[in-house]
Amino acid sequence: MPNYLLLSLLSFITVQAQSTFRAGQTVKTTSGDITGQPSSWKPEVSEYLGIPYAEPPVGKLRWAAPVAAKGSGKAINATKYGFSCSTANNSPASAAMGGATDTQKEDCLFLNLWTKPQTGEKKKAVMVWIYGGAFIVGSGSNKGYNGALLADEHDVIVVNLNYRISVFGFPGMSFLPDKNVGLLDQRMALEWVRDNIEKFGGDPSRITLFGQSAGAASVDYYAYAYTKDPIVNAFIPQSGTSSTMSFSGFGNVSEAWYKASEKLGCGTAADGEKTLDCMRTKSTDDIISVVKPPPSNSSTSALNFGVFLPRVDGKTVFDDYAARTAAGNYIKKPVLIGNVENEMITFIRGNSVSASFKKSLTAVFSCAAATVAKARTTKVPTWRYSYAGDYPNQNTAADVSGPWHGSEIGLIFGTTQFTRKSPDSPEQLQLAKTMREAWTAFAKKPESGLDTLKWPRYDPEKPTIVILGGVNSSAITYKTSAEYDKTCSLSGILSSMFGGLGKGSSTPKRLI
Ligand SMILES: *[C@@H]1O[C@H](CO)[C@@H](O)[C@H](O)[C@H]1NC(C)=O
Ligand SMILES: *[C@@H]1O[C@H](CO)[C@@H](O)[C@H](O)[C@H]1NC(C)=O
Ligand SMILES: *[C@@H]1O[C@H](CO)[C@@H](O)[C@H](O)[C@H]1NC(C)=O
Ligand SMILES: *[C@@H]1O[C@H](CO)[C@@H](O)[C@H](O)[C@H]1NC(C)=O
Repeated sequence: MPNYLLLSLLSFITVQAQSTFRAGQTVKTTSGDITGQPSSWKPEVSEYLGIPYAEPPVGKLRWAAPVAAKGSGKAINATKYGFSCSTANNSPASAAMGGATDTQKEDCLFLNLWTKPQTGEKKKAVMVWIYGGAFIVGSGSNKGYNGALLADEHDVIVVNLNYRISVFGFPGMSFLPDKNVGLLDQRMALEWVRDNIEKFGGDPSRITLFGQSAGAASVDYYAYAYTKDPIVNAFIPQSGTSSTMSFSGFGNVSEAWYKASEKLGCGTAADGEKTLDCMRTKSTDDIISVVKPPPSNSSTSALNFGVFLPRVDGKTVFDDYAARTAAGNYIKKPVLIGNVENEMITFIRGNSVSASFKKSLTAVFSCAAATVAKARTTKVPTWRYSYAGDYPNQNTAADVSGPWHGSEIGLIFGTTQFTRKSPDSPEQLQLAKTMREAWTAFAKKPESGLDTLKWPRYDPEKPTIVILGGVNSSAITYKTSAEYDKTCSLSGILSSMFGGLGKGSSTPKRLI
């Protein structure tokens, strides 16, 4: 048989195989046989919810590195979200971040997956989402993070993952082999995606890691932590980098740990590591009750961090990002990085600070994005954006308006109908489409997808910051760094105000 005939026969067979994928059909995975369902929102999309990627991190595994799910041999009914991870830090803003209203349990290491193998590329690009929430709240079950529309309209697979947060994800104690088990969870979920995504129609060589806020910081931490075995081949950090989330000044973990341990009858600082086994026998609620930070003063501050946050461990989080950046010691893969124009409005409430001050706090995020973009663009294809969309239905309160921290997420997932009180305007829908096309073009071809869409690569000397939208507008405009990053000369002052960003401060700051 001539080769071309054989080839066309083979491709015919593959297409046939694809077209027979039944929405939600059972898929064999390393976690076991999992059965999903057609997405009720986008019925051609297969939705697999609550896939366990690790053993439940309870008992001896509380505060320990995750252990890959072995699969019990029982079929997994993946038609409902798994539990959200427990937090000790619920605060006024956490409902908005998808944290407060879910059922929370420590048994929370699940991921969710949306795919439509019936059409499009045989092996699809994969986008893995890491939620934000300051490492203290958040869940993959947040309605805003539903990947069905991206899978339906943009021919990608979307995965989002739960990872441990708050005291359960970031115990921080020096006697533990791993201080940041929440970040290890993220890595384990990516290993699961690498090992299983082909069965869902995915391409394990094209995995883009994207996330917002703490999720973006996670994306950036990852870029430095896994240089030897990256798994992922592109990054989209949205409003966060390793430097915006540096918590060295946020209180004394040891002090908080031993105070908690003493209250639960597990011993004092003198007992050291011996406190651990005892603390592992306590219930989730017991632990929460003794580490809960005092109620946040919601008139000025929306989040209450506490002290259990990512800490430098020399493995997942480093204390020398500037040196690593200068040395090119990070995963050299394309990056699409940016922020929104009015970041801090989400965090600071009330009239105690002026509007211009709130606005200037955006520099904490935008200047960090500038630093990363400037360094990366000399080594890898780099694009930089700023979301400037400002629409009436996006404003959550009189003092939370404009393009606030997180307001771009719904446009990227196309989920604003679930999160906004009134329908989007035509301009909004247009901008959302533009953004989804850009994000997915990047995920499909990180080296050149955005070139095809005529997005300029980031050049600090040229108007290459892509400004997405405006007041009631879907316009795309461009700014130079000279124009956009004016406030960065002030960032030193801003950092010192943030306390946690400046080293040596021992008082936890409650500003954000
Ligand atoms: C899977 O769970 C759903 C509820 O989420 C239930 O309606 C369905 O019957 C279950 N399927 C099986 C095979 O157990
Ligand atoms: C933190 O707390 C521990 C235990 O109470 C104490 O030994 C240590 O000196 C404290 N560290 C700092 C930097 O205050
Ligand atoms: C919250 O902070 C404001 C401004 O600093 C202060 O006036 C108010 O008393 C505080 N409220 C509480 C409950 O601490
Ligand atoms: C934006 O649109 C809303 C609703 O149509 C309108 O009330 C508002 O005045 C517009 N804002 C500007 C600056 O045009």
